[in-house]
Amino acid sequence: MRRQPLFLVFEGIDGSGKSTQADLLFRHVSSRGLSAVRLAEPTDGKWGSQIRVMLREKNMLPVLEQHKLFLMDRKDDAERNIIPALNENRIVIMDRYYYSNAAYQGALGIPPERIIRENREMQVPEPDRVYYIDIPPDIAAQRVTGRNNAQDIFERESFLKKVRGIFRSVADEKFLAIDGTKKVEEIFEIIKADFEALLGSCPPTPPGGGLP
Ligand code: ADP
Ligand code: TYD
Repeated sequence: MRRQPLFLVFEGIDGSGKSTQADLLFRHVSSRGLSAVRLAEPTDGKWGSQIRVMLREKNMLPVLEQHKLFLMDRKDDAERNIIPALNENRIVIMDRYYYSNAAYQGALGIPPERIIRENREMQVPEPDRVYYIDIPPDIAAQRVTGRNNAQDIFERESFLKKVRGIFRSVADEKFLAIDGTKKVEEIFEIIKADFEALLGSCPPTPPGGGLP
């Protein structure tokens, strides 16, 4: 039997609908009386804040330096948030993880396999499931027009085509790829059914702990 709790990750290009689905899953999990935590990368920690300033000011660091910041942010997230939550038997619902690192910094030229290897070498927790919301960049872009005043490099359509290609190429057995052009409710039905199946294969630890 698999261990409890679950570590569930949402991946996809900007505007794919990740946050919408992560919020719905968080609400669903909570309404079932299970304890969950909703996290996101980049974080609001010390490295994540530097990343957000870089993105907001559109003042992009050279790719190797930005890659290093994303790695440090992920290590910090694992130590401060992910591992403690899993140790407290909470289900972790994460908006972006190291596959985003592979896809975005990969699209800027670092080999995606190398990025995945470097993340795994840091021994950050491995997700149980990656909900990958797959969508053509032009449709995603229409949804988020107006979110920022001007698109940054990470949101340009040609760049996002590359990012999408890498997401699709690094998909492993943990991925559940979902057509992001479907309606919000249809996508969530797929995620909910999968979540329930995962939960069925690793039922929650009863209060006070499991069997000795
Ligand atoms: P992401 O977190 O991947 O950037 P969001 O969840 O913030 O994407 O969604 C971007 C925008 O698209 C939001 O305005 C959201 O309401 C809308 N949206 C999300 N999912 C869908 C969908 N399946 N169909 C149409 N619009 C959607
Ligand atoms: P996010 O806040 O999720 O953006 P959005 O809400 O627009 O989807 O992430 C900010 C950007 O950071 C996003 O364009 C993807 C990028 N990113 C990387 O380039 N590498 C990474 O490792 C991660 C986690 C995110």
